[in-house]
Amino acid sequence: MFFDRIEAAPADPILGLNEAYKADPRADKINLGVGVYQNEDGITPIMECVKAAEKVLLESEKTKSYLPITGLSEYGRFARELIFGKESELVDGGRAVSCHCPGGTGALRIGADFIHQQNVASTVWISDPTWANHYQIATSAGLKFERYPYYDRVNHTLAFDRMLETLSQAKEGDVILLHACCHNPTGVDPTVEQWEKLAAFMAEKKLLPFIDFAYQGLGRGIDEDATGLRIVAKHCPELLVASSFSKNFGMYNERVGVLTVVSENSEVASRVLSQLKISVRTSISNPPAHGEKVVVTVLSNPELRAQWTLELKGIRDRIRNMRELLVKKLAEAGAGDYGFFVEQNGMFSFSGLDKNQVETLKKDFGVYIVGSGRICVACLNHKNIDKLVSAICAVNKE
Ligand code: LMR
Repeated sequence: MFFDRIEAAPADPILGLNEAYKADPRADKINLGVGVYQNEDGITPIMECVKAAEKVLLESEKTKSYLPITGLSEYGRFARELIFGKESELVDGGRAVSCHCPGGTGALRIGADFIHQQNVASTVWISDPTWANHYQIATSAGLKFERYPYYDRVNHTLAFDRMLETLSQAKEGDVILLHACCHNPTGVDPTVEQWEKLAAFMAEKKLLPFIDFAYQGLGRGIDEDATGLRIVAKHCPELLVASSFSKNFGMYNERVGVLTVVSENSEVASRVLSQLKISVRTSISNPPAHGEKVVVTVLSNPELRAQWTLELKGIRDRIRNMRELLVKKLAEAGAGDYGFFVEQNGMFSFSGLDKNQVETLKKDFGVYIVGSGRICVACLNHKNIDKLVSAICAVNKE
């Protein structure tokens, strides 16, 4: 037997919660685990602009033959436009190359594979805490990881000084994995001044930024959420960006990600691109077409693009309203001051609830949140919010 020595792996800390939630027979259970937006009716809707683009594709698509290894060139161009801003020389200047990867996760993995295969670096510094998958993506690609402190649990703020102090131990060429916005799981992002300082620090120490940009448009705005990344791109001549349309187009299961690599000049960039093609070819061969064609159709049509911008704003505003309502209701229920929730960005609120409290929420109340205490506020609505508030009050008393 070859497989009998294999040990069972633990359930995934985020996606595994979905399984547990589905198996829970309680009618009033609430799933605030995985980072997926739900509307007031508890549904993850398909955006109108996506439906409209799908109609166009249904009529106009003539073939399902393979896409190029890196995807459609317009797709990469649109991604760069959103990441760096319309006016940036990185959109068309040849220094930045992009390839379509399956979701932000695929982009992180193909980027990590590229770093490892090309001996760019061996160590990646990852924020503590971070999205649980970051660690295993790095190690699966053959990279070592170190942690840098990120979150001040007492003040619910960014532990910026400690972060820089720890990162000063990084060696030239080490990779620094950052979240462009809506830090997962804390929702706490650096200020503009902190980004400036961090970017200058990385440039000075010759560190390589790898920026996870999964939530553009879900924090403060499409351009606003790119502020930090654009500051880094100003200071650092080389960087990688793993961005995603999976969330901001609500096309989660289409896995619509992009890896963009910025090099010092276009000649280096074209060599980088040739190696990225090998990384893509050896892992997924070439990308799936549907999601990227929807994105290209929406972004190239002024009306659909305007509709997307509006729909995304609606999602962002609803999340923010839920955040504010949660803080108000927690205060009214005597749970204490959770005002820091409104300082956090994106889909998640980092509650400070510990592992035991999270377990009690699940066991006694059927409220599912991630073990780190991360609550997906993007799944709250006027029907389930009171239950969450009373469950938090109950576990706080224990
Ligand atoms: C999350 O953090 O919940 C999302 O990024 C979904 C995932 O794949 O974990």
